[in-house]
Amino acid sequence: MPAEMVLVLSRVEIAEKVRTLAHRISKDYEGKELCIIGILNGVFIFLADLVREITIPVQIDFVRLASYGSDTTSSGKIRFTKTIELDITDRNVLVVDDIVDAGLTIAYFLEHLKQLNPKSVKVCAFIDKTERRKVHVPIDYAGCVVEHGFLVGYGLDYDEKYRTLPDIYRLKARGEGTHYDHSL
Ligand code: IMP
Ligand code: MG
Repeated sequence: MPAEMVLVLSRVEIAEKVRTLAHRISKDYEGKELCIIGILNGVFIFLADLVREITIPVQIDFVRLASYGSDTTSSGKIRFTKTIELDITDRNVLVVDDIVDAGLTIAYFLEHLKQLNPKSVKVCAFIDKTERRKVHVPIDYAGCVVEHGFLVGYGLDYDEKYRTLPDIYRLKARGEGTHYDHSL
């Protein structure tokens, strides 16, 4: 582990939380049709694990919403760089993201989804990071709640680095012995 990181969740703990989420989702949507929409890029590892633990048939699609530059703070600007291709009219939709921080990305996407007339919409996020929340977003399924810190690994990146680490780490803040300035 690089010196500038602190372990937050091990791969064993992650797998346990993913299984719990998948069981809840499978139970809640039993006998129903479900479209899962993942928000790229960070979600790809979590989503791959989650859908393999879900025991009901699901359809999967992705969107890509760009909201961050190459830094750790949101630019506040959100735009689609890839939109949905599945027809979700009158379908049950589960939006899946890796981490909800300010909430702006999910809020923007939920607003967009409404116009497509789905039957229902719920949100699943592996990490619900609460301290910087700017808009209220309903998170129906959260893997875990983390108050603050910039996390990497398990799909989460810092400037496109560390996505492939199997465990989740927090980058140490300035003053904790690193050069990263990610003032939260
Ligand atoms: P927000 O909820 O609009 O602030 O945006 C959430 C998105 O910002 C996530 O899907 C991530 O792509 C990114 N993000 C927020 N917090 C972190 C973090 O701690 N590590 C890595 N990416 C993060
Ligand atoms: Mg993301």
